[in-house]
Parts: sequence; structure tokens; C-alpha cells
Amino acid sequence: MARKGKVTVVGAGFYGSTTAMRLAEYDVFETVVLTDIVEGKPEGLALDMNQSRPIEGFETKVIGQTTGPNGEGYEAIAGSDVVVITAGLPRKPGMSRMDLIETNARIVRSVAEQIAKHAPDAVVIVVSNPLDEMTALTQLATGFPKHRVLGQAGMLDTARFTNFVAETLKVPVGAVTTLTLGSHGDTMVPVPSRCTVNGQALTDLLPAEKIEELVVRTRNGGAEVVALLKTGSAYYAPSAAAARMAKAVIEDSGAVMPVCAWVDGEFGIAGVYLGVEAEIGRTGVRKVVESALTESEKAGLLEAAEAVRAKQADVQSL
Ligand code: NAI
Ligand code: 2OP
Repeated sequence: MARKGKVTVVGAGFYGSTTAMRLAEYDVFETVVLTDIVEGKPEGLALDMNQSRPIEGFETKVIGQTTGPNGEGYEAIAGSDVVVITAGLPRKPGMSRMDLIETNARIVRSVAEQIAKHAPDAVVIVVSNPLDEMTALTQLATGFPKHRVLGQAGMLDTARFTNFVAETLKVPVGAVTTLTLGSHGDTMVPVPSRCTVNGQALTDLLPAEKIEELVVRTRNGGAEVVALLKTGSAYYAPSAAAARMAKAVIEDSGAVMPVCAWVDGEFGIAGVYLGVEAEIGRTGVRKVVESALTESEKAGLLEAAEAVRAKQADVQSL
């Protein structure tokens, strides 16, 4: 198999290390670079990951690199085709994603400035929370074209919705299609009109109250995991989503995925990073894909756009 390209994962915590491992196991990149500010942590994890190569049968090389407060070590990310930013604090029980904004904005801004310096051609996938705001901040701090900066949230939220529907109807997850748009937060917009089970409309299979219950559980999907873990947030499903996005970029696949992308007129909304479906390829977001929504879903998307627009304006000063 022809491996190509380099992907960097910044932040070697639960989300970052799981993402790096998944990316290496895909065996499509030449190199996966994993960085963190904790001395030795990325190097140790990379050593461990490389030692799994004979067992799992992949050749992608993982390189760990500690980075310093003034950008020391960032030479290791030079030439990256894709960079995934996972650096930042996760939530604790009772915290909202928004409670992280000041601390994570400082971290994400400093990381973004180093990416602009050392990997100026990269597509950047942001996962640090609050997601929609950190994506907007990354675009500002890198100065990259908006299509080259996107955020991961919709794939995760959609996967959670799909899983809940499959468990409720006792069908394989592969039989279920769902969609969530909007923000990665209180104004997340699950889209029941786009949900099917074996091609049949979800609205024909479950009563409206049951669908609403699953919608609410999806919206609170991250908090449900945080409350159980008590010491951090989800990372298996989130890392699967970010890794698939990075793979779509390097393979220039054109896969349509729900992601946080710059919206410029689609759905009658402009000038904001928002959860929408988009075609992903080597240039990042090739285009935002518009689909028919019910009036209430469209209203939800507009509400989400206004909520994140206000917060995204705030991050400019953080
Ligand atoms: P974690 O605490 O396990 O790892 C964070 C890592 O970032 C730590 O190893 C820390 O040393 C590192 N870090 C801090 N400052 C850094 C810097 N300047 N440069 C490089 N590394 C730095 O947290 P976890 O679980 O990995 O989550 C990471 C982020 O992802 C959090 O903000 C969390 O809220 C977010 N998240 C987002 C999701 C999404 O769907 N968008 C889903 C789940 C988590
Ligand atoms: C999640 O949804 C905390 O954003 C993170 O799991």
C-alpha cells in the first residue's frame, strides 16, 4: 500500500493519543507526529505505539515530540498535511464546554500560531472545546483560508444519535442513518427528518416523544460520559470522528461528513463557523452541502448560528 503524507496530533492526552493510534493503524499516512507539553509523554506514547506495529500489521511511523512554551520542538511538525488540535482541558462533572473557553483559548491560540509558522500548508482539524469557538479562533490565529480550518463535532454527535436509535430499535448501527447539525453544545440540532432505519423514516418507526427523548440524550451525550468518568471526557468515539476526517483529507476522498465549517450563505446563514454537512478533501472543506430541512430544523440551525456567532466574536479578544 502506498502510504503518503504526514499528520500531526497536538496534545497527547486521552483524545490525542487515541486519535494518533487510530491514524497509525489506518496505515495510510507515512508519519504520525504526536506532541504535548508534558516532557516525555508524547515520546513514550509514540514508542509504545510503534511497538504495536508488528502485532497490528501497520508500517506508519509514529514520532513523539515534547514542545516548549516558546515553540521549542515544533520543527517536528514541519510539512504536515493535516494537524489535529486536541490540546486543552477537558470538562469535569458539572462543567459546560463553555466553562473551558478562556483557558483553552490561550492554549489553542499558541498552538495555532506555531502551526502557521511550521506547517503553513496544513489542513487543521480542531477538537478542543468549546469546539465552534476554538475552530473560529484557530482560523483567526493561523490566518489560513477558512476552508483549511474545520472542527470535529457533528460526526461524533451524529454517531451518538445513531447508536441511541440502533439500541432503541434493536437493529445494527449499520442500518441507521442520522444527522446532527448546529453547534457542539446546547444549540445542537439533531435532524429527525434525515433519519432512517433500513431506508424507512425514523418518524414512521418511533413516536415523536421517543424521538425527542433520543434527541435530548444526544444533545447531552458528552455530559453523560463526563458524569460517569468523573475525571475527563469521552475519547473513543470523538477520536474515531477526528481520525476519519484526517483520513478523508489525505485521501482526498470527497466524503460528505457533518463538521464544523465556515458557512457563507448556505441555509441563509453567513459569516460563522457552524455544524453543517460538508465535502472533505485535500483542500479541507471542498463545499458545504445544503439539504432540505423542516421549518423547525431550519429555525434550530438559525438559532445555533446566532448563538455561536456571538461567542465566536468574543474569542477574538481572548
Ligand atoms: P486530556 O486532559 O486527556 O489531554 C489534553 C492534553 O493537552 C494534555 O496531555 C495536555 O498536557 C495537553 N496540552 C495542554 N496544553 C498544551 C499545549 N499548549 N500544547 C500541546 N499540548 C497541550 O484531555 P482530552 O480528553 O484529550 O480532551 C482534549 C480536548 O478535546 C478538551 O478540550 C476536550 O473538551 C475536547 N473534546 C472535544 C470533543 C469534540 O467533540 N470536539 C470531544 C471530546 C473532547
Ligand atoms: C463530548 O461531546 C466533551 O465535547 C466532548 O464528549
